[in-house]
Amino acid sequence: MRAGSKAFYRWTKPVVFVLCLLPLVVLVLQAFAVAGLSLGANPIEKLLHELGRWGLKFLLITLTVTPLRRWTGWVWLISFRRMLGLFAFFYTMLHFLCYAILDQGLNVAAIVEDIVKRPYITLGMLGLLLLIPLAVTSTKGMMRRLGRRWQSLHRLVYVIAIAGVWHFYWQEKLDTLDAAIYAAILAFLLAVRIYYARFAPGKKQRRTGR
Ligand code: HEM
Repeated sequence: MRAGSKAFYRWTKPVVFVLCLLPLVVLVLQAFAVAGLSLGANPIEKLLHELGRWGLKFLLITLTVTPLRRWTGWVWLISFRRMLGLFAFFYTMLHFLCYAILDQGLNVAAIVEDIVKRPYITLGMLGLLLLIPLAVTSTKGMMRRLGRRWQSLHRLVYVIAIAGVWHFYWQEKLDTLDAAIYAAILAFLLAVRIYYARFAPGKKQRRTGR
């Protein structure tokens, strides 16, 4: 089976899809205490944090696809980018729903007050809201319809990732090491983009289509 062939995608896409769902399956098993698993002493906080972390992980994984394709020459990797990006949206939305329903009991006034008064929540909300147009326009049809504007719109993913990492860093009260690791990974991925956009050889040829 050749990488990039129809048969290749027929097998790999469902496998990647199931792998992306695994973190949620583990959290559900922990929530329902299956096989001795547990979310610990503070289940809502644990769920909220894990969903937030997975949202951010999928954002960073999505941002890794393009540089990885450049380094390895594996063009087929691009076909997984959309799915990974949608999983970033999926986990971040679950993170928000966990906050709104389980943590805040759907108290709209309290949620609005939090969004207005707590800067790290404002920033998180900005990230989530910006993710919505990207998810909506992620289809091939939308890509065709928007043309060059699609690429400009999808550059928002950098703003979202910065907002997400900053939101993570800001809400940490004591231990900021994990957030700093995510920030370092994002800084590296952004630096790679800037390098290729400005200095990489062959940029001119690609732009002019040669
Ligand atoms: C791009 C969007 C977002 C990302 C990537 C994100 C990610 C994260 C991460 C990684 C954490 C920390 C997890 C940990 O400490 O283990 C977190 C915590 C949290 N997030 Fe988000 N988040 C986003 C949006 C939101 C939104 C929209 C809300 C609510 C309106 C929200 C509410 C919270 C809350 C309440 C916490 C926990 C704070 C605490 O325990 O003191 N997040 N988020």
